[in-house]
Amino acid sequence: WDASPEQKKQCLQTECFNHIRFLQRYNETHLYACGTNAFRPLCAFVDSERFGLPASFEDGRDRCPYDPAKGYTGLLAGEMFTASQYEFRSSPDVRRNFPFPTLRTEEAPTRWLLADFVGSALLRESVNSSVGDDDKIYFFFTERSQEQMAYPSRTKVSRVARVCKLQTDWGGQRTLQRKWTSFLKARLVCFVPEYELYLNVLRGVFVMRGSDAQSSFLYGVFGLEKNIKASAICRYAFSDVQKAFDGPYMEVQDSKWREYTGKVPEPRPGSCITDEHRSRGINSSRDLPDGVLTFARRHPLMAIQVRPAGARPLMFKRSVNYVRIAAHQQPALDGNVYTVLFLGTDGWLHRAVDIGGEMHIMEELQLFDQGQPIESMVLAPALRHVYVGSHSGVVQIPMSACRRYASCYDCVFARDPFCGWDGRRSNLTQDIQRGTSGCKENSGNVHRRRSVMAGDDVLLQCELRSNLAMPRWTLDGRELRGYGVDSGYRVGTDGLLIIGARGRQSGSYRCFAVENSVSVLVYLYTLAAPLPAGPQLHAYRHMEAVYICLVAVLGGLCLVLSVVLLYVSFCTRRVSRSRKFSQQQGLHILGSSERKGSSHVELQTISNGRQGRRSISVPAFGDFLQIVPGEGSPTTGTPPAAPPLPLPPPLPDADYANGMSATLPSVLRKMNGNSYVLLRQVDHDGASPLYHSFTEELNRILEQRKHTQLDLQPHES
Ligand SMILES: *[C@@H]1O[C@H](CO)[C@@H](O)[C@H](O)[C@H]1NC(C)=O
Ligand SMILES: *[C@@H]1O[C@H](CO)[C@@H](O)[C@H](O)[C@H]1NC(C)=O
Repeated sequence: WDASPEQKKQCLQTECFNHIRFLQRYNETHLYACGTNAFRPLCAFVDSERFGLPASFEDGRDRCPYDPAKGYTGLLAGEMFTASQYEFRSSPDVRRNFPFPTLRTEEAPTRWLLADFVGSALLRESVNSSVGDDDKIYFFFTERSQEQMAYPSRTKVSRVARVCKLQTDWGGQRTLQRKWTSFLKARLVCFVPEYELYLNVLRGVFVMRGSDAQSSFLYGVFGLEKNIKASAICRYAFSDVQKAFDGPYMEVQDSKWREYTGKVPEPRPGSCITDEHRSRGINSSRDLPDGVLTFARRHPLMAIQVRPAGARPLMFKRSVNYVRIAAHQQPALDGNVYTVLFLGTDGWLHRAVDIGGEMHIMEELQLFDQGQPIESMVLAPALRHVYVGSHSGVVQIPMSACRRYASCYDCVFARDPFCGWDGRRSNLTQDIQRGTSGCKENSGNVHRRRSVMAGDDVLLQCELRSNLAMPRWTLDGRELRGYGVDSGYRVGTDGLLIIGARGRQSGSYRCFAVENSVSVLVYLYTLAAPLPAGPQLHAYRHMEAVYICLVAVLGGLCLVLSVVLLYVSFCTRRVSRSRKFSQQQGLHILGSSERKGSSHVELQTISNGRQGRRSISVPAFGDFLQIVPGEGSPTTGTPPAAPPLPLPPPLPDADYANGMSATLPSVLRKMNGNSYVLLRQVDHDGASPLYHSFTEELNRILEQRKHTQLDLQPHES
């Protein structure tokens, strides 16, 4: 559905396309869609059989924002309810668009909304209501806080607002004409007690409907302002939301928001028309007394803050920005029903299961390339499918793919209520609660042999399938402990590095994946000892002679080449200059390992001095550290002259601000034809959260780089 060429020509903005912002089922045969249409919104009924556009469109200016980037939510419930900041300078607004008359929120004397909308939901509270209540539409958003807060720096708050669906709401008679008479809003609090941290930016919501409105739950994804990576999932009972709307109001006193303690007029302002109203002869909003409407107009905000069930988030994660959420109830073999959460990030989908209030991440799937945040997520439980959309496309994936679990332990550790292990096609094995028991033997491990020359390094690979597993290594059945720099071992994300192999390091190595305190053997290595001197000495003597000859021949060749080079350099000085190294301080590693076999690595080690610091920004929030990729900017001295060759990555300072203490190593090590430098990472016995976030960040980067071709940028590798 493209914007017309004429409309595109008239459009003077950058986003002169038709961004579809609204698409929902209208009736059995038609969908209803709205698009920005190059800053002139249009809506249309779409035949769902043909999925074709109609001949004529409707003006969408009152129901769809002009700006594709503006927060927007809407739903069809007989009538169309939408919320957004529709035009450039208009204030954010909750609207009922048809039938006539349209209803809006109030702007004076108290502007009701400063919101960026995230989601909306209809709850049928009229069904089986003992008081003749109405259905209600809830809106979820983040807005600039109006009320005076204890923490002035926190300028945003998350909120829930609601209006009554109220077939008979025409606004007020004199006061609040064509405005909602039932608009109320309250704050949603998502607070992490351990870090005394408020997450104030609501990014996504999902309403889990119970048998009635009282037993329904709201799941919200919250983040921090200023692009600091962190996410929390909070879960709220709609009964608590209801309590807030039935509680005291806030009021502006001396230009500050305070709890209102005076008399509240009857019938209660902002409530829906119930049997009680009807018994007083109030059949619609137009029959409400002026005093009630005047009060409602000045008191849209409730004093009680809605706190999550369990008084804390279900989950708090640093280094992840969740933006969308959906939830599904899944019965498991143990007879319990588990909530499975689908969480969308920057191109990834995480599946998590709620086990007694603790979230366990079962799986992380990459659906889109980096830089493509998940924009929409819809569950189709009957089809067992999840539909996930980003700006580039939509993906259909199964709610769970049991096939991906490769072994019994793989399946049991995942604790996926959708899957059980049927090893012998008898009883299914599943242990959601603990994720430990049911599997019999460790199968599927791999045995490899490696031999190594004395003094060389060797990496025994052991990639763990699960991000939650920890590696454990044994040598001839004995635990390898204290993998310090001096121990000759390093455990990395992809295996065990044996540094400068010695005779006593030969033997049988086992790599176990430890998850939920269960060790599962993954790899078995037999490492051959560096050959000892002895009977074969003779052969070596012989080889030595050959080597000496070879060195002599190569030396001669070098001499000849040097003479030729010298000659060439006299002829073409420019070529010579472009190969010159700049007198940078630091360590240059210029490998050419793509030409394996004939590869030679040129090294130039210059003094161990200070170089440019890596650009690290530590935001105002003390607990969070973000490594900003990009150009390292030197902090001391004048910037060096631009060298003709690519710069090596800057080396960290001796006392790095984040728990890393790096000393320039004296030895450049070699492995698999590549050269590398071993940096020392000081253990802080896990006390500092900063240290953890750095390690997490580093591991994440390493994980991403693992599958990239190291040879492409040898200076970087
Ligand atoms: C659905 O709505 C469209 C648009 O108003 C209308 O043309 C169509 O007849 C309706 N279909 C049914 C089954 O009511
Ligand atoms: C409200 O409806 C009742 C019953 O339909 C009617 O008797 C009453 O007069 C109505 N009240 C007003 C104020 O319209």
